[in-house]
Amino acid sequence: MLSKINFTQTKAYEYLSSHLVDISEKHMKELFAADPARFEKFSVQFNDIFVDFSKNRINDKTMALLVQLAKECDLENAINAMFNGEAINETENRAVLHTALRNRSNTPVYVDGKNVMEDVNEVLGKMKKFSEAIISGTWKGYTGKAITDVVNIGIGGSDLGPVMVTEALRSYKNHLNLHFVSNVDGTHIAETLKKVNPETTLFLIASKTFTTQETMANGHSARNWFLASGATEADVAKHFAALSTNAEGVSKFGIDTENMFGFWDWVGGRYSLWSAIGMPIALSIGFDKFEELLAGAHEMDKHFRETEFEKNIPVILALIGIWYNNFFEAETEAILPYDQYMHRFAAYFQQGDMESNGKHVDRSGNEVNYQTGPVIWGEPGTNGQHAFYQLIHQGTKLIPCDFIAPAQSHNPLGQHHQMLLSNFFAQTEALMNGKTEEEVLAELSGKSEAEKSKIAPFKVFDGNRPTNSILVKKITPKVLGSLIAMYEHKIFVQGVIWNIFSFDQWGVELGKQLAGKILPELKDDADVTSHDSSTNGLINLYKAWR
Ligand code: F6P
Repeated sequence: MLSKINFTQTKAYEYLSSHLVDISEKHMKELFAADPARFEKFSVQFNDIFVDFSKNRINDKTMALLVQLAKECDLENAINAMFNGEAINETENRAVLHTALRNRSNTPVYVDGKNVMEDVNEVLGKMKKFSEAIISGTWKGYTGKAITDVVNIGIGGSDLGPVMVTEALRSYKNHLNLHFVSNVDGTHIAETLKKVNPETTLFLIASKTFTTQETMANGHSARNWFLASGATEADVAKHFAALSTNAEGVSKFGIDTENMFGFWDWVGGRYSLWSAIGMPIALSIGFDKFEELLAGAHEMDKHFRETEFEKNIPVILALIGIWYNNFFEAETEAILPYDQYMHRFAAYFQQGDMESNGKHVDRSGNEVNYQTGPVIWGEPGTNGQHAFYQLIHQGTKLIPCDFIAPAQSHNPLGQHHQMLLSNFFAQTEALMNGKTEEEVLAELSGKSEAEKSKIAPFKVFDGNRPTNSILVKKITPKVLGSLIAMYEHKIFVQGVIWNIFSFDQWGVELGKQLAGKILPELKDDADVTSHDSSTNGLINLYKAWR
């Protein structure tokens, strides 16, 4: 069980609150000037990942107090409870063991007295066999042809992880064409089906619960399309597989459970890319590379579990996030990968973070009186620079940013990568240093005094805007696995300190329930009167216009 400690009532919180006054008055430039060892002190290297957190509004005292905060909130026990399979997802009475899915050391992990590694290894073995048969072409479609296209039908955690990873590792991709359908908007499946041939397409119906409206609707439409092409019910087995925890739902849908790749209720949807939900990844880059992704995550798991908090990357990132979220009152955090392949990374962690820590009730069931999870957003650099960076540099909001970049490109084309990286380095430097009035005036030296004083205020940047720089050697499956696990554990640490449950998502249920109630009301043209006037009005206008 996790402790139920209100972090705002700890000693560390009290000290941090008064320390905030000192730090608020300091510019990061001064902090760098005062401490020549700042970069070495506030950076950590882990394998091929280097995390520089020196460009933050912190000093030794800040970090010491933040670590004290983690200790007072019983973080060590929480970490052990998660890895040991305790039912820390209390509202659903479930263990949280995505770490077991990538436990390459294969040490036993018990849930209710059973070593789950046996099941994990069995499914991995089945995934290996299946993915190799599809990739090699020994698996044939109903007319005897090899599979050329894979369509993953899933949403949320059954979509975002595989989409993000297959994109991030696109340079390792084989000949199979991957497609992802998530939205219940018929356009998504219709446009995808235009691109594929039923004789050579494999559909993966990915849903933990196998009840999700969007996925069931898209799955049935795909099945109808397949049967309409001249294939028979018996041919479905050659073209449909299920990734799910719900064998009964899978059979009911008409997929042979032989073609089902299972996982377990102790795998959260947004933490499931390491499970059978990762099948599109194994198909796209091959099973060996999928295993490298798991290995990278496992190494980060070990680092997280075994490293003292002062040098523990997920813990450090989480604590710095809390420093801004709860003391500087920052509302959002940006994730900015300087790597085009990672263009869905921020979108992936929007679900990862916001569905986990978007909570307003503490672990005792009381309304919290402090801020919990931030809004997560971001786009790849340099595109973002020409879109929203203006606000990060000169707006009125404090937006802590994570900059991520690989030292080696998969596409070393002329000067491109040096240009990209020069922007990566320049942005964090500019955000920290800003530009003083003096510097602006010097730049305007050719202008008249009147012109200078008119234009100068607009060109001044305060700077002092915090960033983490995460420089990796190359985006390999292993490095990506470690990076994803790093953010997963950051989210976990923050949830522990905020005293919330990070592994349920009751907030998404209400909309689902109401949509279920409204759907039958849309079947005929009768006026709807059962809702508020706005909802009634919109439904009735829709009926008039359709
Ligand atoms: O949107 C809520 C949610 O339950 C997510 O947590 C989950 O990833 C998604 O729906 C999909 O669920 P399933 O895999 O059961 O279809």
